[in-house]
Amino acid sequence: MEWTPEPHELADLELLLSGAFAPLTGFLGHDDLHAVHERGRLADGTPWPAPVTLHLPAEVSPGDEVTLLDPEGLPLATLTVTAREADGLVSGPVKGLGAPEHGPFARLRRTPAQVREELGGRAALAVTMRGPLDDLSEIVATAKDLDALILLLPLAYGEGGPAVVRAALRAKEQLPPGTLVVPVPLAPRAEPELDLELCERVAAAYGAVEHFPGPEPVTIPGPPHRRGLVVFFTGLSGSGKSTIARGLRDELLELGGRTLTYLDGDVVRHLLSKGLTFSKADRDLNIRRIGFVAAEVARHGGLAICAPIAPYAATRAEVRAMVEAVGADFLLVHVATPLEECERRDRKGLYAKARAGLIPEFTGVSDPYEEPDDAELVIDTTHLSIEAAVSQVLGTLRSGGWVR
Ligand code: ADX
Repeated sequence: MEWTPEPHELADLELLLSGAFAPLTGFLGHDDLHAVHERGRLADGTPWPAPVTLHLPAEVSPGDEVTLLDPEGLPLATLTVTAREADGLVSGPVKGLGAPEHGPFARLRRTPAQVREELGGRAALAVTMRGPLDDLSEIVATAKDLDALILLLPLAYGEGGPAVVRAALRAKEQLPPGTLVVPVPLAPRAEPELDLELCERVAAAYGAVEHFPGPEPVTIPGPPHRRGLVVFFTGLSGSGKSTIARGLRDELLELGGRTLTYLDGDVVRHLLSKGLTFSKADRDLNIRRIGFVAAEVARHGGLAICAPIAPYAATRAEVRAMVEAVGADFLLVHVATPLEECERRDRKGLYAKARAGLIPEFTGVSDPYEEPDDAELVIDTTHLSIEAAVSQVLGTLRSGGWVR
């Protein structure tokens, strides 16, 4: 079978294949993980600091071969399954398929063996970096004491990956000749001590005699009015969410200063989600598509206004995570007009049809709506004018600094 692992799993795969995780040659199983947690060793006693795992939800059996793909579908490696736990954890050795490296700064990546050859027997001082180096003098002095070359290992993973490689290339210009820069896609581990130990292992694999952990990155997010923002309205059909969303869009256009994308539920279903039904699976897909577009908008600092019903809490949470993963902000606005009021208004006549059994799976009537418990703002329009509702949302955007 074929499987596309998660980004952090693909990063680990690359290090397994390059030999940077030597002596590991595959993903760890339950016994090894247990031993790593308990004793900082693999089950056979080999010292190893941190988990290196892969999850595969589909059923596989020991002996099966799984082709691991990158997100574009390029086969990267074959995993020979040795075990699979109930929670989907799969272990087994991996073998590279010789796929060419791609991605930013791919040309700078080298395997530990290649780097050791470049070093040609010279000692190396490895500096692992997740952010820019502020003080080079200590590194230069340590390298001099050791009579070592400096090996900058930018731990290029995720959104900030290219920036840390650029920081390493800038630092190299001020460091002694012979300094090497080798990007390493090491995904950060949850526990800082394990992360540090893993950095040490990787540095040693690259032939370093000494390891110098660079400073942790201080990510200073831009001011809110420059950050991307997704204002996500959720609520029953007829709750007033589209009307408020439109009002907000118009007010923001009048104010100027932010680029806007408007993704109303009914509008989205004309093109982006055309053909989708109102089954749970299709509603989820609809919301994921809206979330994907909104996150792209927000990635570039734009403001996206979304107004679908979005009846499922887990899917709304997925969208929040997608948006936050690009460093943008997510604001959930629950337009909590009760069903009775939506039905009393019945602006599109849909509730009457739903009650008559003419529209199946109608939200609130014959299909669920999971009330959010994580909304930043809750608006009930029963006794509230549209203008007042819009100004509540705008007030939140102003007080949070998103609009000025
Ligand atoms: S969602 O559940 O996938 O988020 P979405 O916001 O795109 O829904 O579409 C909701 C709109 O589709 C409603 O405002 C209504 O006009 C229309 N609609 C048609 N059938 C249904 C249905 N079965 N349930 C809810 N809305 C429906």
